[in-house]
Amino acid sequence: MIALKNDKEIQKIKEASHIVFLAHEAVKNALRVGITTRELDKIAEEVIIKNGANPSCKGYPKGSKNPFPATCCISINDEIIHGIPSNRKICSGDLVSVDIVADKDGYFGDATRSYVVGERNEEAEKLIKVTEECFWEGVKNAVLGNRISDISYAIQKHAEQNGYSVVREFQGHGVGFEMHEDPGVPNFGKPGRGPRLQEGMVLAIEPMINEGKRDIIENDDGWTITTKDGKLSAHYENTIVVTREGPQVLTLG
Ligand code: MF3
Ligand code: CO
Repeated sequence: MIALKNDKEIQKIKEASHIVFLAHEAVKNALRVGITTRELDKIAEEVIIKNGANPSCKGYPKGSKNPFPATCCISINDEIIHGIPSNRKICSGDLVSVDIVADKDGYFGDATRSYVVGERNEEAEKLIKVTEECFWEGVKNAVLGNRISDISYAIQKHAEQNGYSVVREFQGHGVGFEMHEDPGVPNFGKPGRGPRLQEGMVLAIEPMINEGKRDIIENDDGWTITTKDGKLSAHYENTIVVTREGPQVLTLG
């Protein structure tokens, strides 16, 4: 079931999304060669808590034997998603993806950024640029009259036109009242399928794009997902709302 959000609820989701944005700004400002992913995680968590919100990923899913132990998912180079913060130090030229979810008063925002740290890394920079463009191609299609897979198709098309591949095992999702809601938002597929987009639909659109092949490996830690071929992967995500006036991105300010 897809839960549509009214204006009041969208306002609350905007508030949570703004806190996610602030946490990302703090992490971006702290990112440098030699900092550990655990230190970055702490910085994000402090911002979230200072603003009266909760780090939604920490302890998720509730009741699990192996819940996610941190505020941020930090995924480096061939890590696609769900990297666990640790004492690993960021190296010069690393491609670092940071995924943050926060909830306040029961409303959730979700966003991911990818960066190159230190020296230039043209391959990684190009991959990040195309991944962000994939997001925007998807958002352009988040309009009334379209269906979910029109977003998916646009993302896949842009990635593959640039010689990259799309991760298929993970996808975007509805968000707002919970971290993960219906509908799923795949990053690939034929256009014109899936639920019709409606006013008040809040979606996390999140392309995960690989430099090489799309195949993945699940790590022994039960969380980290890496590319099978060891090549780079980038991730970019924002929470958006579908309105009569077009899509509005909530995690950019
Ligand atoms: N931002 C991630 C997502 O879009 C959150 C999952 S990480 C978890 O699904 F640790 F909470 F599972
Ligand atoms: Co998400």
